[in-house]
This record gives sequence, C-alpha cells and structure tokens, in this order.
Amino acid sequence: MKVAVLGAAGGIGQALALLLKIQLPSGSELSLYDIAPVTPGVAVDLSHIPTNVRISGFSGEDATPALEGADIVLISAGVARKPGMDRSDLFNVNAGIVKNLVEQIAQTCPHACIAIITNPVNTTVPIAAEVLKKAGVYDRNKLFGVTALDVIRTSTFVAELKGKKPDEINAPVIGGHSGVTILPLLSQIPGVSFTDEEVAFLTKRIQNAGTEVVEAKAGGGSATLSMGLAAARFGLALTRALLGEQGVVECAYVEGDGEYTRFFAQPLLLGKNGIAQRQPVGPLSPFEQQALDGLLETLNKDIVLGEEFVNR
Ligand code: NAD
Ligand code: LMR
Repeated sequence: MKVAVLGAAGGIGQALALLLKIQLPSGSELSLYDIAPVTPGVAVDLSHIPTNVRISGFSGEDATPALEGADIVLISAGVARKPGMDRSDLFNVNAGIVKNLVEQIAQTCPHACIAIITNPVNTTVPIAAEVLKKAGVYDRNKLFGVTALDVIRTSTFVAELKGKKPDEINAPVIGGHSGVTILPLLSQIPGVSFTDEEVAFLTKRIQNAGTEVVEAKAGGGSATLSMGLAAARFGLALTRALLGEQGVVECAYVEGDGEYTRFFAQPLLLGKNGIAQRQPVGPLSPFEQQALDGLLETLNKDIVLGEEFVNR
C-alpha cells in the first residue's frame, strides 16, 4: 500500500504524516509532497521513527515523484481560514490548487483513491470530479471529501455533555462540510436521549466547531491536530478496506445516488475498490428532516460553483 500526502509540510500534513508513519500497516510506503522546500526534511525527520513504513519527501512544483504508484492520495494542500472568514472565502486560492494537483493525479496514478481535506470541501470535491472526468479517469467510488472531523467532534461533544466515553458515541454526520450543511444525526446514537434544547445546542456547536478553533487560534490557522487525527482515521480505514478487511464503514462526502444533492456526506461501506456501498442515511427526527430540507439549496450552490470552475 502506498499513501501520498499532498500539502504534507502544513499543519494538517505533518500531523497526518506522523500518524500514518506510526499506524500504516507494516511494509507500506508513505510519500510526502508540498511546495514548501522543507518537505524532504520532514520525511527525513519521520524516517527515524522505528516502524516498517518507508517514507520519502518531495518539494517543488511537480508532485509526480510522490504520486507514482500511489493507492491513496490525501490532499491537505492550500490555505486555511483566519477569523472573520468563511470556508467559501478560501475558494479563490484553493480551487486552483486542487485542480492542479488532481490533474497530476489523473496523469500519474489515475486509479488511486483520492481523499480531499482542502476547503471548501463542498466545492473542492466537485472540482476534483470534473477534472478527473475531463481526463477520462473518474471513478465515483474513489473520490472522497474528508468529513471525519465532524464525526469525531460529534463523539467528543456528545460524550462531554452526557458524561459518556467518547469512543462509545458514534453518529453519522451527513450533508456537507460547512455551516448548516453539516448535519449530525444525534437521534441515531443508541442509548442516549436529548432534550430539544440539547439537540439544538449540540448541532450548532458541531456546525461551528471549525470556527471555534479558528477564533481560538486568533489568526494562527484552523484545526490541524484534530484534523490530522481525523484524516489519519479515514485514511487508515480506507487502507484496511483496500487490503480486504470487511465491514469498514465511514462517513465521507461523495458523489451519491442523487437522492439529495450530487455530492453528499453519508455513511459508506468501504471495500477493495473504494466505496462498496452507499448506505442510507436512516431514520431522521423531525428536527433532522427539517435541517436536511434546509441545507440542500446551500450545498447545491457550493457544488455548482465547483462544476462551473472546471467547465467554464
Ligand atoms: P497550512 O497552511 O498549515 O498547510 C497547507 C500546506 O499546503 C502548506 O504547507 C503549503 O505549503 C501547502 N501548499 C500550498 N499550495 C500547495 C500546492 N500547490 N501544492 C502542494 N502544497 C501546497 O494549512 P492546514 O491547516 O494544513 O490546512 C490545509 C487545508 O485543510 C485548508 O484548506 C483548511 O481549510 C483545510 N481543512 C479542512 C478540514 C476538513 O475537515 N476537511 C479541517 C481543517 C482544515
Ligand atoms: C474545520 O472544520 O475545522 C475545518 O473545515 C477548518 C475550518 O476552516 O473551519
């Protein structure tokens, strides 16, 4: 298994690379790429960690050496928010970065699974899909927007409020990855009940959690360490599924069956070829149904923006 991280010298990239170096299966290969010249040095640093994961690092304009033979490519390249910005304010810079990197993936490792962390995820994933389509290599079962941070935040915040252990709490988070498009399905957590006020509070906290970090870092960036963990969790789940483990289910933002919007975050059964099955979102409470109906227009606009960026 070869995993490539693009944007590997950044806040997320370095945390993610560390976790992958420690946790990828023995015999795997990890390649790091970033425009920042420090990237080969990050790889040398990580190479001293005693695991049987081979690591290499590349910088400059060309990602090709990092991408050669990659089975999974995780992309966190791009700029992060500062206080007062929305994720959509990152579009102008990050859309071009993602387009360029995915064009290189289409050339060098067209059959790799691609997991996009770079914001705005609601839009960068459609951009990637259109680039791959243009190159004639799009497989909708192999392109993911990483929403795992919303899932781990849900576990953490619910456990905190209810005095439970975070690893006992698992709820799907559906929709997209910004503001109201993030919809945690709290009604599906077994054995935990909430008042209407608690549902409203938790939903808002999960939707605003990115901003909570951006404001706390006060101009120093957005979530990097929790995101590194979330991306590693998703990347490792995908690795296990590609290697044949059965029953691996994770939420991510993918091209769905079009029931809601073209791209939609939902639970996915992962398999040897990426998505094996898009799972239904399951029963919704009246609060969740109303929130779902209310988010579709926003999410659809974000998607169209990405499609038009590539096809204009
Ligand atoms: P960062 O600034 O710390 O790191 C970004 C890295 O990207 C830098 O090292 C930079 O050199 C590199 N880069 C820029 N352009 C590049 C290019 N063309 N090719 C290769 N590398 C390039 O930022 P960060 O905190 O790591 O965040 C990265 C992205 O992840 C942001 O867009 C942020 O909004 C997003 N993010 C997403 C989630 C999520 O849940 N999906 C969570 C947190 C952050
Ligand atoms: C997050 O949810 O923390 C990320 O999307 C980063 C951000 O800008 O909020």
